[in-house]
Amino acid sequence: MTGEDAAEVAALLAGSWRRTYAPLMGAERADAEAAGFTAERLAADLERPHAEAFVALADDDGISGYAYAVVEKGVLWLDRLHVLPAQQGTGVAQALLQAVMTSFVGEPSMSLEVIEGNDRAIRFYEKNGFVAAERKSACGSIQGVPTLVMRRPLPRA
Ligand SMILES: CC(C)(COP(=O)(O)OP(=O)(O)OC[C@H]1O[C@@H](n2cnc3c(N)ncnc32)[C@H](O)[C@@H]1OP(=O)(O)O)[C@@H](O)C(=O)NCCC(=O)NCCS
Repeated sequence: MTGEDAAEVAALLAGSWRRTYAPLMGAERADAEAAGFTAERLAADLERPHAEAFVALADDDGISGYAYAVVEKGVLWLDRLHVLPAQQGTGVAQALLQAVMTSFVGEPSMSLEVIEGNDRAIRFYEKNGFVAAERKSACGSIQGVPTLVMRRPLPRA
């Protein structure tokens, strides 16, 4: 991903948050949280140390998926993984996950938070080797949303 992709990724995130999280936390809350992912913020996140972002391109060169991971306090977090509905089930998510894992070779494990009820995502993570490690009552700063922390070891360098 480059800074030039930021506006398109922001639009992808806004749609994905509404579709995925409105049924789980309400449309108003989902939209409010998604509004935080401005193009400016996404571009700035590219400059953070120990962070990597990837986009997947569809045949028409439009962005069909986005992944962002960052090491915070010594823990590698897969912070964002979103694929357009038309490209779900095609291996795009898998390719993005692989790109992230490859770029962080040497890290012992990868962690993520997934909201309970996001069953498709949970199934995707399980089949990619993640297991539930902890249950929390908040997803990051979003209070009152039961959330699973999932983790998997990474291949050794
Ligand atoms: C999560 C996401 C990246 C996974 O990518 P994907 O291409 O949909 O994943 P896959 O199709 O490879 O795997 C999904 C699995 O869930 C299954 N599935 C589909 N709908 C399901 C449901 N309602 N409940 C349980 N499993 C479901 C699929 O059959 C598939 O399993 P299988 O390969 O054993 O058949 C994608 O769905 C997405 O972008 N979702 C919206 C954003 C999101 O939730 N991101 C995760 C934030 S933590």
